[in-house]
Amino acid sequence: MEFSTYTLHWYYKNQRDLPWRASKEPYKVWISEIILQQTRVAQGIDYYEAFVAAFPTIKDLALADEEQVLKLWQGLGYYSRARNIHFTAKYIYFNLQNKFPTNYKDLLKLKGVGPYTAAAISSICYNEKQAAVDGNVYRVLSRVFNINTPINSSAGIKEFQCLADSLINTKSPGDYNQALMELGAIICTPKKANCQQCPLQSKCIAFSKNLVGELPVKEKKIIIKNRFLNYYCIEHQNQILINKREKKDIWLNLYDFPVDEFNSAIEFANEAPSEYLLNLVGGQDFVVKKSISYKHKLSHQHLHINIQHIKPVNFIIQNKYILLNMIEILKLPVPKPIEEFLKELF
Ligand code: ADE
Repeated sequence: MEFSTYTLHWYYKNQRDLPWRASKEPYKVWISEIILQQTRVAQGIDYYEAFVAAFPTIKDLALADEEQVLKLWQGLGYYSRARNIHFTAKYIYFNLQNKFPTNYKDLLKLKGVGPYTAAAISSICYNEKQAAVDGNVYRVLSRVFNINTPINSSAGIKEFQCLADSLINTKSPGDYNQALMELGAIICTPKKANCQQCPLQSKCIAFSKNLVGELPVKEKKIIIKNRFLNYYCIEHQNQILINKREKKDIWLNLYDFPVDEFNSAIEFANEAPSEYLLNLVGGQDFVVKKSISYKHKLSHQHLHINIQHIKPVNFIIQNKYILLNMIEILKLPVPKPIEEFLKELF
């Protein structure tokens, strides 16, 4: 039997019952694939269901406020993906007469849709023979064929795409793509792979050479930047000072508190109130009610965050910020550390 036949047989017996598999609607498959690029299936289901309940069709999404879209994305991270989904929904609704593109080439033209997403949608919804290579697929193929080219190098990306293309099942490419991903997600896992249950065990070179734990290989090329953020949650008459993030940086268009950013851990550790804070609260007259530290890891940045809950005595609001009560704040999209702090506070 061929590689793809083994994989498909296994899939038809073992696939999980996932909500987006119930339909082949490209809109829903698109949303699920974008969500699954940044989270595991178990967490992705809740986000997917909330998202398609709020926006059952492209039209609903196209006519929505960006704030509502970001709120439903809150906690998933990579907010540019949510902004791109919203942009593309508007583009399809207003510029493509609400017609979702029906082939790989046209899907690739959409903002936020790369080769993986275009292959997933075109194979699942339109039976096009396009191999979708995600992290799961890299893992399975690197092990079965014992390939140690780094999966995040340009040579690796080409080599794995080429191999995946050569293996695709021509009768059921959509099921086959999902089968390989499913196998990577539940059998050929990053740690403690369950090789005893694997339908590809007899074909797997890494298994026979005891190399499963060594593959796939990744090039270490990401430079992590450390950032030090001192947030001020300033409360005045049961309202909190809120900032909308409008600069091109992390969390664009989400809401947070006024913030001081420091260049080093040493400056960050200095406990004396900064000029900025003194200006913000109108002098030395304030009480720090609570202070909590968070570490928040993004793909290229590690954020060292301190959030202080501050009650000023003589407070004059500056027009750059808005004062909102908790009910109003809960409707806004906020970054994860801010969400956690607000939960702790109230
Ligand atoms: N991961 C990303 N997309 C998937 C899919 N369609 N099935 C299984 N796992 C996935």
